Amino acid sequence: MLILGLETSCDETGVALYDTRRGLLAHALFSQVDIHVEYGGVVPELASRDHVRKALPLIEQVMAEAGCEALNIDGIAYTAGPGLVGALMVGATLARALAWGWGVPVLGVHHMEGHLLAPMLEETHPEFPFVALLVSGGHTQLVRVDGIGEYKLLGESLDDAAGEAFDKAAKMMGMPYPGGPHIGRIAEKGDPDRFDFPRPMVNRPGLDFSFSGLKTYTLNTVAKCREANASGELTEQDRCDIARAFEDAVVATLVIKCKRALKQEQLKTLVMAGGVSANLRLRAQLEESLAKERAEVFYPAPMFCTDNGAMIAYAGAQRLAAGQVDSGDTKVRPRWPMEELPPLGSTAPPVGSLFSSSEAGKSIP
Ligand code: KG4
Ligand code: ZN
Repeated sequence: MLILGLETSCDETGVALYDTRRGLLAHALFSQVDIHVEYGGVVPELASRDHVRKALPLIEQVMAEAGCEALNIDGIAYTAGPGLVGALMVGATLARALAWGWGVPVLGVHHMEGHLLAPMLEETHPEFPFVALLVSGGHTQLVRVDGIGEYKLLGESLDDAAGEAFDKAAKMMGMPYPGGPHIGRIAEKGDPDRFDFPRPMVNRPGLDFSFSGLKTYTLNTVAKCREANASGELTEQDRCDIARAFEDAVVATLVIKCKRALKQEQLKTLVMAGGVSANLRLRAQLEESLAKERAEVFYPAPMFCTDNGAMIAYAGAQRLAAGQVDSGDTKVRPRWPMEELPPLGSTAPPVGSLFSSSEAGKSIP
């Protein structure tokens, strides 16, 4: 079954073709980072407009790369939520229009399910059941996964998501959005012993996270360094040292909670996905720490850690192949708990309820 996948939930237009027999045939991505950088974050209206501009040319590009024509495509999957409602609507409308024109089924996919299943695109991939750490710009969650659509939330962030904390810490130090990759890069040159940042919530039982205290600690450290410098600005070394201390604190917290989740669920397999899973120190520390427990960690290739069309094509292909299809109107869900997703064997489409404007209002920044 050959599935076209479309991802437009935030600031990346992702398109891919996934074949259930042959694997990933082609994928393309356009990142809007340059469009939003001057605003210090994603501007929803600009994001939607650019998805309108980029989606069709990217679809043409992947079809040409895969040597595939419309009549070869068996179904279309699009991100139906969670995300920015206008951006989601672009992908949903385009997917449904193409599906109608081509006479194929169409299915709305959950963005975080896409992230969670992205490691399945790799040659060496995990077997169910496992614990998943989802760490993106909008989510920090630990989930027990017994199969596709069989999710149990074990813990989540009570305030900022890990990626959001990276972005805010980077902004405090004058670095552009999205800050996670910048912090990862300069932390390499940082002195790990200069600052000792708190490890949030590690001494409390349970599997929830909180990153707001760490954010305040970072802000205070930035202010103290500025005061200490005659110029009133951070030096390059200050930035590197703060980035290192911040990264060490986030990584240590995530690693401790992952180990705790595996122990609680009596499992030995961890999957890590979402933008922050591209962080090299996090990968290295998790690998080292889990190896001691004889547990294994799986993650996607770096290009499939952040938002992409391949993960949506893959997740959609599994559900479409199991007979799930959208019915009725165009549906997007700006907020959408992953536990509401039906298991693979169910005939219910994943997108349960219609988008309502009151729901949309809550999630538009
Ligand atoms: O999954 P993603 O592309 O989009 C969402 O669904 O949110 O995640 C984006 C987030 C951003 O907050 C970005 O700063 C963070 O992932 N990120 C990183 C790294 N690469 C991306 N954070 C830490 N280290 C990285 N190398
Ligand atoms: Zn994402």
